[in-house]
Order: sequence, then structure tokens, then C-alpha cells
Amino acid sequence: MKKPVIAIDGFSSTGKSSISKIIAQKLDLVHLDTGALYRGVTWFALQNCCKEDGNVDLDDLFNNFHHIHLEFKNIENELVLFLNEINITKEIRSNQVTENVSNVAKQAKVREFLLDHQRKLAEKGGIIMDGRDIGTVVLPDADFKFFLTASIDERTKRRYQELLTLGIDANEDQVKQNLIERDKIDSEREVAPLKQADDAIVIDNTEMTKKETIEKILNYVENF
Ligand code: DC
Repeated sequence: MKKPVIAIDGFSSTGKSSISKIIAQKLDLVHLDTGALYRGVTWFALQNCCKEDGNVDLDDLFNNFHHIHLEFKNIENELVLFLNEINITKEIRSNQVTENVSNVAKQAKVREFLLDHQRKLAEKGGIIMDGRDIGTVVLPDADFKFFLTASIDERTKRRYQELLTLGIDANEDQVKQNLIERDKIDSEREVAPLKQADDAIVIDNTEMTKKETIEKILNYVENF
């Protein structure tokens, strides 16, 4: 039986990844969090391609793509991201990566570098991929496209809680400013900006629990 290809796009901290992960388990699909790939490239850049002022040297990064090997490994049913055989799950959630990732992700060369990788993973179907440009650019022929949104205050609350749970120091005001800034960079970039596909189903989950959002998506998908 053919399994669906599902694209989930939307703003930061709308629950895209955790929701996609649960839907993947329920429908026996592979889940790919594409934001983790952009975070992985950013982590590599911060470690290996930095200028003296601490900012990423983009040309140096572009010249070193061939040294970046990103791979998801299935460990106890969790897809864990490895960079050059090193588990970088925790590192990619650090504040340093979060503050730099949108500027790395807006580079056309970075997007091109990751595009084939993402498409190849979807070739066999049976996948739910979450990100910013999945329904518009990466998988324009996806069987289902959803676009998640929620108010900035609700998203701030969620991200703040997530960071505390991960044991990462956080300040709620800074979390909010970072979300606003990332939304702006992600939406205004020239290549593959964050925007809803014309044929996407929009879900505003400000007032919805995670469970309700999952049920809503499953209602659309279950008759595939
Ligand atoms: O979903 P996230 O917060 O982990 O994503 C990190 C950054 O990566 C986000 O600021 C935008 C970028 N991103 C992107 O440009 N395209 C994607 N498909 C996924 C993420």
C-alpha cells in the first residue's frame, strides 16, 4: 500500500516537529525535521568557519561543504542527527546555533546544498517532512500540505518551556525577540522564503493543544 508524503511548514515553535514525530509514529512514516539540517550546517560553521569577531565566514563555509556529512540515524526509534559521525542533537539546540541559523539558512548555496538530500529522502514516499519551504520548494507535489501558525506570545511560551526542559538557560524576552527576528529573516529571504503554499491547509493552533492539532491533521490524512 502506498504511503503518503506530507509537508508541514510554518512559523517557529508552532509544534511542527513534535507534531510530525507523533503523526509519523501513528501512520508508520519516516519523520524528517529539516530545521535540524540547517542547524547542523550552522553548528559546523560555528566550529570551523568563523571570523575573528565570532561571525560565520560564509565563503569559508561554502568552500567546505564537502567536509559536511549530515546523517540521521535511528536510535531507539528516534532519528538522531550526526555530523561527521558525531551526535550533535544537543549542540544544534544551543542558543548560539539558534541565533545564527536563519542567517545561514537564507544563503542560496546552503539551501541548494541541502535540497537534493531532502528530496532523495522523500523519493520512496511514506514520509512527513517539516520545515519552512517543504510544500513550496522541496516537495511541491506532496500529497498533503499543512501550514502551522500561532500567536507570537503563545509560541514564546512554548519555546521557553522547551529550552528549560532541555536544560538550556533562557530569558523569555530574548526568546521572543529571537522568534520575531527569525520569522522576519525566514519570511523575507530571497530564496525559498517561509510562506504558505497555495494549496496548503492552514492551522492556527494558538488555542489548540498539541493533541487537537494532531487529530485535525489525521482527519485529513487518514483517508489516503
Ligand atoms: O524549525 P527550526 O527552528 O529548527 O529551524 C531552524 C532554522 O532553519 C529556521 O530559522 C529557518 C531554517 N529552516 C529553513 O530555512 N528551511 C527549512 N526547511 C527548515 C528550517
